Amino acid sequence: MFSGKTALITGASSGIGEQMARQLAAVGCNLILVARRTERLDSLAGELASVTVDVITADLSDPQAAEAVYAQTQAAGRQVDILINNAGFGFQKPLLSLPVADQLGMVDVNVRSLLALTQRFAAPMAQRGQGWVLNVSSVSAWFPIPGMATYAASKACVLHLSRALHEELKPAGIVVTALCPGGTRTEFSSIARERMDPDLEKAMMPADVVAAAGLKALASGKAVVVPGALYRIMVSLVRVLPASWVTRLAGRVMGRHH
Ligand SMILES: NC(=O)c1ccc[n+]([C@@H]2O[C@H](COP(=O)([O-])OP(=O)(O)OC[C@H]3O[C@@H](n4cnc5c(N)ncnc54)[C@H](OP(=O)(O)O)[C@@H]3O)[C@@H](O)[C@H]2O)c1
Repeated sequence: MFSGKTALITGASSGIGEQMARQLAAVGCNLILVARRTERLDSLAGELASVTVDVITADLSDPQAAEAVYAQTQAAGRQVDILINNAGFGFQKPLLSLPVADQLGMVDVNVRSLLALTQRFAAPMAQRGQGWVLNVSSVSAWFPIPGMATYAASKACVLHLSRALHEELKPAGIVVTALCPGGTRTEFSSIARERMDPDLEKAMMPADVVAAAGLKALASGKAVVVPGALYRIMVSLVRVLPASWVTRLAGRVMGRHH
């Protein structure tokens, strides 16, 4: 379905974004790779030589970045058919022990840039009557997490935004899908300074499996996908348990500091 199309992937320098780039290239989809670490993007572009690959270096915590990224795609004459808002990070720190600039940085990358890029690229998609937007949220979107409150709330925002836009942009021919991974083996944990419960560590999923689940859901027009049976059970339990229990349990398991 995505052969011959062009996908812009944020956070393509590692983890889930890198795996999506590899999987899309394998089906003949051209790529625009976005992240801060240019050398990583260049080396990935070199490996994926069977398709056209552009590299854009951008720090998405900069409020001007979305506009600059859009301008660079325009200058290069690229039409973006698929937008993958994957860049994101989370600090596992309580509100009072993480400077507000770092808290706001999470919101800027995880939410603000995602929203700005979606608006920018969805407009021409709507004019063409076709497009795809894949937003990477998280299983954390279902859990308020004491000890990791800002990250979890930012992902809840991405999930709600994506669900609403799935309906809002449907008449324009645009599919919007939220990918909600549980624990996934990437560089995320070292950035979060997260040391997980050993049982949760065992439940970590490979990044290529998570990436494939997201792309499959996008291609089939689904609103939300949660990869992995364990994580789907977690999400369905949250719906029936009292919110106060869920919050305390999430703090104990996911927001604990070592
Ligand atoms: N791993 C998990 O357990 C897990 C679970 C649920 C959801 N997620 C979500 O999955 C997405 C991908 O994360 P991952 O697990 O693949 O982690 P990762 O390996 O750390 O990848 C994160 C990507 O985001 C990019 N990024 C971070 N800050 C950026 C910024 N300021 N500007 C531009 N790009 C930036 C990074 O590129 P540069 O550093 O080169 O800029 C990197 O390519 C994130 O949205 C994350 O929240 C992950």
